Amino acid sequence: MDPFAPLSPLTARRSGPLQGRVRVPGDKSISLRSLILGAMAVGETRITGMLEGEDAISTAKAMQALGALVARTGAQAWRILGVGVSGFAQPRGPLDFGNSGTGCRLAMGAVAGCPITAIFDGDASLRSRPMRRILDPLEKFGARTVDQKEGGRLPITVKGALDPIPVVYEVPVPSAQVKSAVLLAGLAAPGTTTVIENEATRDHTEKMLKHFGAHLRSEEYGKHGRRITLTGQPELEAAPVVVPADPSSAAFPMVAALLVPGSEIILEGVMLNPLRAGLLATLKEMGASIEVLASRNEGGEDVADLRVRASTMKGVEVPAERAPTMIDEYPILAVAAAFAEGPTRMRGLKELRVKESDRLEATAALLRNNGIEVEIEGDDLIVNGKGAAPGGGLVATHMDHRLAMSALVLGTASAGPVTVDDAAFIATSFPGFAEMMRSLGADLS
Ligand code: S3P
Repeated sequence: MDPFAPLSPLTARRSGPLQGRVRVPGDKSISLRSLILGAMAVGETRITGMLEGEDAISTAKAMQALGALVARTGAQAWRILGVGVSGFAQPRGPLDFGNSGTGCRLAMGAVAGCPITAIFDGDASLRSRPMRRILDPLEKFGARTVDQKEGGRLPITVKGALDPIPVVYEVPVPSAQVKSAVLLAGLAAPGTTTVIENEATRDHTEKMLKHFGAHLRSEEYGKHGRRITLTGQPELEAAPVVVPADPSSAAFPMVAALLVPGSEIILEGVMLNPLRAGLLATLKEMGASIEVLASRNEGGEDVADLRVRASTMKGVEVPAERAPTMIDEYPILAVAAAFAEGPTRMRGLKELRVKESDRLEATAALLRNNGIEVEIEGDDLIVNGKGAAPGGGLVATHMDHRLAMSALVLGTASAGPVTVDDAAFIATSFPGFAEMMRSLGADLS
């Protein structure tokens, strides 16, 4: 993203019924992992359904700078010629991950086991996010890291370990990014690397490692956790990757269709991995009409078409232990909650403070600016739903794609229009969002 580009505001107005059948772009988590694992495998990985958003582009460029060959061969079709585990070349300049926390953190793990030095950097949003959570475990493998500005913020230099040591690491916060970085570093170490998570997070790295031929075991740990054991120094073999539609992106047209009276849409091929399905469960508890059609398996993931109809909803309590399965969906759930009857309390949202923005404060501000009653109590967000929302606000999106899309969905159903200060960051995860929403009948201009 060009840091000097002028802001591009966008306004959503109350819309007529949304109708149609759409497929949202490929899953961001799987797309980024396929680029990084493709770069670490021997041979050619062919990816279809790839997310062609800014986060994927910056991650692809970084893989190229590390010696992999990356080429786009058609619409959402990409090809990567990997260099093998520990095979990355010394990059000539800093690796710029733009807005992508996932790309940056996973690549740090991948580099930690290679005998090279790389500088990691990103945009102002990524430079403000905590990286200590990644650097701590990587140092245990023998990597050396220097955060030039202290406090574990980018830019950061990672000097990979010459002889990485396998580790046993208990992840202190529920984070798929930290878990994944440790597993990717563990690929280069001899023996067994073990990651323990007390709350299970998305398992795309584990699934893809197995798909590429690594030996990995994942078992239950405690009440909600997992223990993952990886055998190091495997011969990772290139394998085709089919990327399903991103449930975190599908959430936006889904909630818009629930809120705009008379709507009925179909979302095609949405991934329903149980570790990503918290929003669906919550909306159903609220009374949402979402029908799961044509359930099938694509590329190792459960997917289905979802028929979504405008619904009258009620407020609910969302338990803290559900948070890892819907961590990116709270801003859009908060919008849905504003249109429900009664309060919705979302518990345990501490991690929202370290996303692309402080999403807890920014989501509350988004709602407040549009006349919706909202409170933060400790780590909980409480939205007092009134069955309708005034709107009429200008929303600061803080370089955060999901805040921008949530605000625009709010505007399609609120009494007054909702304007976002900058819609440009939507392209990090959902290129074509405005066009797709317009094709369904949303009034965005
Ligand atoms: C992601 C993990 C989550 C999520 C992010 C994608 C991933 O972050 O918020 O959008 O692909 O691993 P954390 O690991 O920080 O929870």
